[in-house]
Amino acid sequence: MSSYKYATLAVHAGQHPDPLTGAVNVPLYLSSTFELTGIGTDRGWDYSRAGNPTRDRLEAALAALEGGTSGHAFASGMAAIAALVGMLKTGDHLLCSHNVYAGTVRLFNQIVSGYGIEIEYVDTSNLKAVEAAIRPATKLIHIETPSNPLMVLSDIAAISKIAHAHGTEVSVDNTFMSPVLQRPLELGADIVMHSTTKYLNGHSDGIGGALIGSKPEHKDRFLLIQKAAGAILSPFECFLVLRGIKTMPLRIRQHEENGRAVAEFLSAHPKVRSLAYPGLKSHPQHELAARQQKGFGSMMSFDIGTREAAGRFMEALKIFINAESLGGVESLASHSATTTHAALSDAEREAAGITQGIIRLSIGIEDKEDLIADLDQALAKA
Ligand SMILES: Cc1ncc(COP(=O)(O)O)c(C=O)c1O
Repeated sequence: MSSYKYATLAVHAGQHPDPLTGAVNVPLYLSSTFELTGIGTDRGWDYSRAGNPTRDRLEAALAALEGGTSGHAFASGMAAIAALVGMLKTGDHLLCSHNVYAGTVRLFNQIVSGYGIEIEYVDTSNLKAVEAAIRPATKLIHIETPSNPLMVLSDIAAISKIAHAHGTEVSVDNTFMSPVLQRPLELGADIVMHSTTKYLNGHSDGIGGALIGSKPEHKDRFLLIQKAAGAILSPFECFLVLRGIKTMPLRIRQHEENGRAVAEFLSAHPKVRSLAYPGLKSHPQHELAARQQKGFGSMMSFDIGTREAAGRFMEALKIFINAESLGGVESLASHSATTTHAALSDAEREAAGITQGIIRLSIGIEDKEDLIADLDQALAKA
């Protein structure tokens, strides 16, 4: 299967016809428990928290799409990150990109730090800062690239090289890119994390998360965490993600075409300041984006100046929906300071550069001319 091209993998990896019935789509196995074949023997499944045939298929697809050795589906992206840090023990040191989804910061600061794991935020776009922050107790470097919402990139290959020289592993939150546009394991990272809620599902109709490991010990640990802590993805949600994956390469192509067109329009608009879209040559990390990504995606953010202007702009939008989240077929706009980054204190937000004028856009697959016209009329009213 791994020798196939990507669009073929997306349709077929983990999604072969059902051996029992020939059904072309992966069947939904809603059974919580499975008949055992004897004392201590089964047909491969015994209880759905530990393993479920529908979930197995999604996990196989995820592993194939990221080029990993095992995939693990969780109840949300946050549950996947909680499982990821479940690898760590009291006394371990975790380095994290300083410009990440605020829910990750909330989990680390308000829950994980209580387990005696020391968390330190570092600007992972600065390789010297990463190397300087590594200690003997550093067990994991967790990076999000591009970051949310300012689209700052971290060099996955270079960070992985530095980390490995110090015996540390690297995990990458690949949610903003999708496996179509960025494959961190190919660049040397050890673990990939996704909120499948976004591009993998692609239709804004389910919450889910995933971890993809590259070593047998990841498989053992994540299987244990799924079974022991239990935050697994339900069979129905697995079915929706499997369905979304089949069209993901096609969707991403349109997301990206629209993303580029919108970014070019915004970059020339007098009311738009500091547009962050790595696909533009003017982005300070354009060269890194071109090197480590297979495309530039459809996420971007810009500064409209003030909270009041942001409010007027959001209110005037007709096609773009004022909503959190990203990666669905519909275009969304969100005011980062009061939505995705509301969990940060004012000081933390300021340190991260998320001012009250920042608007994040997730460009959908509608007609790009309609999207540009909508932004144009909303900017006129801002
Ligand atoms: C980059 C990133 N990581 C993780 C998450 C958390 O995922 P979920 O909402 O599926 O728990 C999100 C959610 O917005 C996100 O944007």
